[in-house]
Amino acid sequence: MQVVTSPRRITELMKALRNQGKSIGLVPTMGALHDGHASLFRESLKYNDITVVSVFVNPMQFNNQDDFNNYPRPFAQDKKILESLGVDVLYAPSEKEMYPESPLVNLDFGVMAEIMEGAFRPGHFDGVGLVIAKLLNQVSPDKAYFGLKDLQQFLLISRLVKDLSFTSEVVGLPIIREKSGLAMSSRNMRLSDVGLQLAANIYTGLEFAQKNISDGFDVDETKLAVFDFYSRIDGLEVEYLEFVNPDDLSAIEPRISPKDVAICVAAYVEGIRLIDNIYLRQD
Ligand code: PAF
Repeated sequence: MQVVTSPRRITELMKALRNQGKSIGLVPTMGALHDGHASLFRESLKYNDITVVSVFVNPMQFNNQDDFNNYPRPFAQDKKILESLGVDVLYAPSEKEMYPESPLVNLDFGVMAEIMEGAFRPGHFDGVGLVIAKLLNQVSPDKAYFGLKDLQQFLLISRLVKDLSFTSEVVGLPIIREKSGLAMSSRNMRLSDVGLQLAANIYTGLEFAQKNISDGFDVDETKLAVFDFYSRIDGLEVEYLEFVNPDDLSAIEPRISPKDVAICVAAYVEGIRLIDNIYLRQD
């Protein structure tokens, strides 16, 4: 596996590989890799000649300095995982290389970034959009892979690519879960065993919500029932629970039982912020 740290070098390397007719898959990550990431790497390895994984904890997308400082950075372990899976290139630029100057460009995703993650993490998606635009320019992959745990992020990146005419195809892959149902996340590393058990209730609540909607209960009734379920779990604090259109995150009329819905939640366990979602499509 080649390790590249300079944006100029990655662009040159990718150009050379493309000239040899190789297809390129990019998986952007912030490291602290787990099986959820591995499913993205495997998909890229399957459909592309070359798989590039970027590991970069992007300061521009953190609105909380403590969260940025405490974000896990097990780089040596990540490198081993990538090598063992057969990833071709690890791209790990430093902050200085990625942002030699404080960027002037500020992306604004409008209403799509004003709800859920955008509402509780102001500026988060501007930072995600910026780093993804830079990575797509630096690597120019044929395909770029993202996990659907970050559903809002996936939809915003899809719009970024469309609106700015990037030629890469954006691929979203299903959430990978622990046996307990807990969605895999780098942040899970910071939970104790008890915390991990508590956090599994996030998914139980989502399944309950999904069942209520498919049984014909409306959004308002379901929200109340799920909030009630979560409120009984000591140590779990819900930040938001939203029922939105899974294609564009638009609001769903509260007094209907929708056919298609994405139910999205953010909650704190042991001070760690976790997100998850579930889709219901009844076509
Ligand atoms: O989902 C993440 O890990 C990050 O938001 C991403 C897409 C790598 C951008 O920094």
